[in-house]
Amino acid sequence: MRIVLLGPPGSGKGTQGTVLAERLGVPHVSSGDLLRQHVADRTELGVRVSSYLEGGELVPTDLVLEVIGAAVAEAMRSGGYVLDGFPRSLEQAERAFALAQDTGSTADRVLYLSVADDIVRERLKGRAEQEGRVDDADDEVVERRLRVFHQETEPLLDFYRGRDILVTIDAAQPPDAVTESIFANLPTPA
Ligand code: AP5
Repeated sequence: MRIVLLGPPGSGKGTQGTVLAERLGVPHVSSGDLLRQHVADRTELGVRVSSYLEGGELVPTDLVLEVIGAAVAEAMRSGGYVLDGFPRSLEQAERAFALAQDTGSTADRVLYLSVADDIVRERLKGRAEQEGRVDDADDEVVERRLRVFHQETEPLLDFYRGRDILVTIDAAQPPDAVTESIFANLPTPA
């Protein structure tokens, strides 16, 4: 199964991605986690992307593809993926689609985790207090992340609607109810 999770910051992509991947038996590939790991390890790529992550801006597509391309190829060897945080712009979606078509790894389903901005603000504030993620701690950065989502990522909804693989999930529900809605909307294995 090949699933893409799309949604604003704090919509639950990471939370649901972990559960889904475990239950489907495929790797959870999170662009944010992979990029943060590079920053923590101070790799050459990590040094180049850290200011984008701290400021809540999109990392340039070429750099993201470097990280994601390898991770998705690896995941495909395990039978599929739950992709969280990628693609995030039309440019990324179009480039990823072209690459995936060549390798037979296009997504079966794109799940849009829909949640209002005010709920996002509340959740990220809660996580800032508990976990101290740097891009949650500053209100301005949280607003920028929301803006980037609405401007750059939301247009992907039409892109996937056009391919008839988009399902919208009410992600304002409690986590278990979100998981249940997701499973009710997965394609039945052939
Ligand atoms: P990324 O790590 O992808 O961050 P994000 O999209 O802002 O998403 P979050 O991790 O904040 O939230 P989430 O939707 O995963 O929700 P979560 O489950 O964690 O990206 C970070 C940065 O990396 C970007 O800003 C950018 O700079 C860069 N980047 C990443 N991908 C990129 C790409 N493709 N291109 C360019 N740049 C890229 O939950 C959040 C909180 O809410 C948690 O505390 C959780 O416990 C809680 N919660 C979750 N679900 C529920 C629920 N149903 N009810 C109540 N609380 C809930």
